[in-house]
Amino acid sequence: MKHILSSEQYNRESLEELFTLADKIRNNMKEYSHKLDDKIIAIMFYEPSTRTRLSFETAALKLGAKIITTENAREFSSAAKGETIQDTVKVIAGYADAMVIRHSSDTSAVEAASVEKIPILNAGAGKGEHPTQALLDMYTIKHKKGKIDGVKVAILGDLLYGRTIHSLIKLLSLYDNVEIYGLSKEAFMLPQEYIDMLKEKGIEYKKCNSFDELPKDIDVIYHTRIQAERFEGDFGKEEFIINKEVLDRFSEHTILMHPLPRVIEISTDVDDDPRACYFEQAHNGLYIRMALLLQVLDRA
Ligand code: NCD
Repeated sequence: MKHILSSEQYNRESLEELFTLADKIRNNMKEYSHKLDDKIIAIMFYEPSTRTRLSFETAALKLGAKIITTENAREFSSAAKGETIQDTVKVIAGYADAMVIRHSSDTSAVEAASVEKIPILNAGAGKGEHPTQALLDMYTIKHKKGKIDGVKVAILGDLLYGRTIHSLIKLLSLYDNVEIYGLSKEAFMLPQEYIDMLKEKGIEYKKCNSFDELPKDIDVIYHTRIQAERFEGDFGKEEFIINKEVLDRFSEHTILMHPLPRVIEISTDVDDDPRACYFEQAHNGLYIRMALLLQVLDRA
């Protein structure tokens, strides 16, 4: 059974295969509009979402599938009564052909998949992974930069709790001569296990303390929101806000990405800058998620 649980299940070949399928879908949406006519997709989100949920729902609908969903699974599903994820999946498997899950537990998607009754797609698991976001991020980098080998990427914001960051750097590490720079407040530094993982793959992680330490010709600046819902207390002031003046210190070829939602870490005064591509990035999620649904349901 195919599941999408972690970036770790990918290699260069499977990534390229996914990107090719996403391109084919994008260029010929009509041809795909009945591929999943007989399928039902369950959408179970135990945490807030706009893009991931609505793009998965749109992806299913554009493929002809139907969806069943609970508006707020944490409050309105039987989880509120103490039901385990495994029991929920066993029941949903009697109704739906695949399930998309977002949950505050790092192990939620793996637990759901352990039932092995329907394909599970991890739409964000705690502070652990968010593989489908990372896949659309890589697809966006490939489209904007033409290649991924040799890219220099700065990761900013919440490197500790940011699951999109964790999934993204695992995928970046599959490519040759990639350079990764990290810029965050001390309290939100990248955990050592990820620095070690990069080192094992031959990537030296460069921890920076200011925008000045990032190369001017950096290819990608990937900012993220402080994940305030994942810890107690106040995190103080955002120190690394990207506004027009900051962005203009970098090359005209640098692209600015963000998984969204942004709070204050990217100022709206750069939204119209051609380097800002976060809305295009979010849109790419539709094609990647259509491709993923086809793959897990063996209709690719
Ligand atoms: C991210 C998430 O849920 O981890 N959102 C998303 O899916 N685009 C990032 C975030 O919430 O900050």
